[in-house]
Amino acid sequence: MQKKVALIVGSLRKESFNRKVANEFIRFAPDNLKLEIVEIKELSFFNEDIENNPPQEWLDYKKQLDDADAFLFVSPEYNRTIPGVLKNAMEIGARPPKENSWKGKPGAVVTVSPGLIGGLGANQTIREAAVSLNIPMMQQPEAYIGQIKDKLLEDGVTVNEKTEKFMKTFLEAFEIWVNRF
Ligand code: FNR
Repeated sequence: MQKKVALIVGSLRKESFNRKVANEFIRFAPDNLKLEIVEIKELSFFNEDIENNPPQEWLDYKKQLDDADAFLFVSPEYNRTIPGVLKNAMEIGARPPKENSWKGKPGAVVTVSPGLIGGLGANQTIREAAVSLNIPMMQQPEAYIGQIKDKLLEDGVTVNEKTEKFMKTFLEAFEIWVNRF
């Protein structure tokens, strides 16, 4: 049975490398995984005062999470941790506590950076938050895609052969992980 995977991209930038990599994951997805980006750019800041009377965009977003069978985070690292927009999207998805949209569904994380370390700090931060969100995360393979500019072909959107191979290996493992739930 085909499983729906909500892709959460931690950058709002139009030319985001993370979004490009997310789109490549969509292109490489095995038949049994349907990957779709769930947009987070319209989400207003989380505020506990309004969580029981939330704005429509929170509800629409949570519905997309609720409809998903699994989650794949693809994110940059900002100041050794994660972008605020991604953290905000995590909070909105998790609340109110009885309506945690992440709860119990499998997930995985990929971080992408022009830097050498490949967003290691952000990758770990997402795993840390996943404990509280209650997303059982795939442990291996870990995915730190560093020096991304060297991994894209001249068209600026297609990853090179070696990266494609790694991404397909990652997806194979993720498919097995998702099917365990
Ligand atoms: C960055 N960048 C960055 N890179 C990194 O590897 N580690 C870091 O801690 C940071 N910190 C950081 C903070 C802020 C505020 C910005 C704007 C950028 C660089 C970052 O990886 C680069 O801008 C990426 O291109 C961002 O990802 P997208 O938008 O291309 O997906």
